[in-house]
Amino acid sequence: TRPLKVALLGCGVVGSEVVRIMTTHAADLAARIGAPVELAGVAVRRPDRVREGIDKDLITTDATALVKRGDLDVVVEVIGGIEPARTLITTAFEHGASVVSANKALLAQDGAALHAAAEEHGRDLYYEAAVAGAIPLIRPLRESLAGDKVNRVLGIVNGTTNFILDKMESTGAGYQEALDEATALGYAEADPTADVEGFDAAAKAAILAGIAFHTRVRLDDVYREGMTEVTAADFASAKEMGCTIKLLAICERAADGESVTARVHPAMIPLSHPLASVREAYNAVFVESEAAGQLMFYGPGAGGAPTASAVLGDLVAVCRNKLAGATGPGESAYTRLPVSPMGEV
Ligand code: HSE
Repeated sequence: TRPLKVALLGCGVVGSEVVRIMTTHAADLAARIGAPVELAGVAVRRPDRVREGIDKDLITTDATALVKRGDLDVVVEVIGGIEPARTLITTAFEHGASVVSANKALLAQDGAALHAAAEEHGRDLYYEAAVAGAIPLIRPLRESLAGDKVNRVLGIVNGTTNFILDKMESTGAGYQEALDEATALGYAEADPTADVEGFDAAAKAAILAGIAFHTRVRLDDVYREGMTEVTAADFASAKEMGCTIKLLAICERAADGESVTARVHPAMIPLSHPLASVREAYNAVFVESEAAGQLMFYGPGAGGAPTASAVLGDLVAVCRNKLAGATGPGESAYTRLPVSPMGEV
């Protein structure tokens, strides 16, 4: 069987782990897929920063030329951000490749258009790594639960803020002190705005809501409130009520089933709820569905190797589809329930 050709866009923390796993697990991947996988090129902005162990001949700074080669089966996009990722993904579809992406910002903003482009060209778009790192969520919601009816999704989908809130709860620290510790340990970025103001969780909420309810939810549809105003006193009050405080992404179907809402804000959770015991920088997503009842998905939501695990799973799925001459569920599988804007909550 001819090898399936894979190009990688971006070779940072996640990309270099993708290459490492592709290389060390090559035989296993070939067995899972039914054909070997060949790394055909790696596009990076700064070749001097690429880690040791990656064949220098594969490295290019011309990502556009790479996705236009015409012989690629899969393009793996781990550069993040809106552009150039969006144009590169669209170009990859036009030139016959399917795409695996970890790009939450792009999927939350332009998921519908990208899915439509994939379907137009008969290609796949998979993005398990875009929400909650290693935790299998997209495919369980889109495929395993496709015959069920999901009514609500409650997620701790940002590890940085969960770490901060957990520290505040367990040590009595204030927000700033807990943030400083998160920064010192490398969880929070130098500019933690996207995490603490809930933008990162809102992008993930948009993606989750769309997948859970088989509709399209954009970042702009998500009500968002960060967790910077949560105080040690709030935790003390929550404790008196037998609760803790978590930054939640809440995606719900309206009682009449005719519309959905998505929101991110700090929420009180009873200590008896499984989400209350999610500690440190872990993520968890609690799903309530009609037939299955209550399910919880739990695990590491960030980091190079965990995120690469999700990317590799998608790569295997997309390669299998390719060999079968099929594609996964596309844009036409969506029923498009209207999304109701949230007012103040
Ligand atoms: N900043 C994100 C988090 C990284 O803290 O969860 C993973 O998307």
